[in-house]
Amino acid sequence: MVDKAADSGPLKDLDQWEDDLLRRYPNPADAPKQSPGTGQASDTASTKAKEQFRDYRAEAKPEVKEFYRLNHRYQTVDFVKAKRADFLRLNRRKMGLWDGLEFLNTLVDSSDPDTSLAQIEHLLQTAEAIRRDGHPRWFILTGLIHDFGKVLCLFGEPQWAVVGDTFPVGCAYSDKIVFSEFLADNPDSRTSEYQTPCGIYEEHCGLDNVLLSWGHDEYMYHVVKDYLPTEALYMIRYHSFYPCHREHAYEHLMDAKDCKYFAAVRAFNPYDLYSKAAERPDIDKLRPFYEELWNEFLPPQLSF
Ligand SMILES: [Fe+2]
Repeated sequence: MVDKAADSGPLKDLDQWEDDLLRRYPNPADAPKQSPGTGQASDTASTKAKEQFRDYRAEAKPEVKEFYRLNHRYQTVDFVKAKRADFLRLNRRKMGLWDGLEFLNTLVDSSDPDTSLAQIEHLLQTAEAIRRDGHPRWFILTGLIHDFGKVLCLFGEPQWAVVGDTFPVGCAYSDKIVFSEFLADNPDSRTSEYQTPCGIYEEHCGLDNVLLSWGHDEYMYHVVKDYLPTEALYMIRYHSFYPCHREHAYEHLMDAKDCKYFAAVRAFNPYDLYSKAAERPDIDKLRPFYEELWNEFLPPQLSF
């Protein structure tokens, strides 16, 4: 096993970013129940409710904070353009389902042997939760592959250029971006052209024309964009765009198509955040189903 994730940034592993998302956006299913008749939350419930409104800045782990500091400092317009020009040539490696999953699984936290199957298991748990709810086959496949772009880490990219909430570059930063105060250190914050509400874009120009901070979402979108339905492509491309799909920032850049398909992004998000389970999926048993599913939509090998 290699331990590139731990070498290339402050996070213990890439999951630490997702664990922090879960702290910021707790599962509504765990939310306090109303006491019957009173319309009031019970004491235990109100304590829990308060916990859910706690200050993420104060409570984020130091390594998560440091991760966002780096992400916000270095994700500039020029950086995003350079990474797109390099990685979107998709000339690094060809991978099918199992070699892709196995490659992704080399992204482990070497200090914790129990997480050695974390990536493959999380992807299967996400897909299985979607399948259990009776969603279409392309939706299940999307659950399985949505994080394949994290292989960027294995191509030597630092954590802050692979994961993290995404946000538009080239226009004013929203205060809905997590740790938005760190964006003051981004050189683009001193470029006046980039700091108007629309910046280098036109109002309602559509997100397809907007550069988001670089990471695994945009990368994976380009890997599969010729093969999957529009809903699936939106889920993959914007699943980390929390300032928009959760906080409703940047709606002035969206067009009618974005507004329509963000319903899919929002439908996907609970499966991404809340499907981690203690029960470990039986990989060998699930393998034939997912091989067939992959082959239904995707070529035997995808270009990364
Ligand atoms: Fe992701």
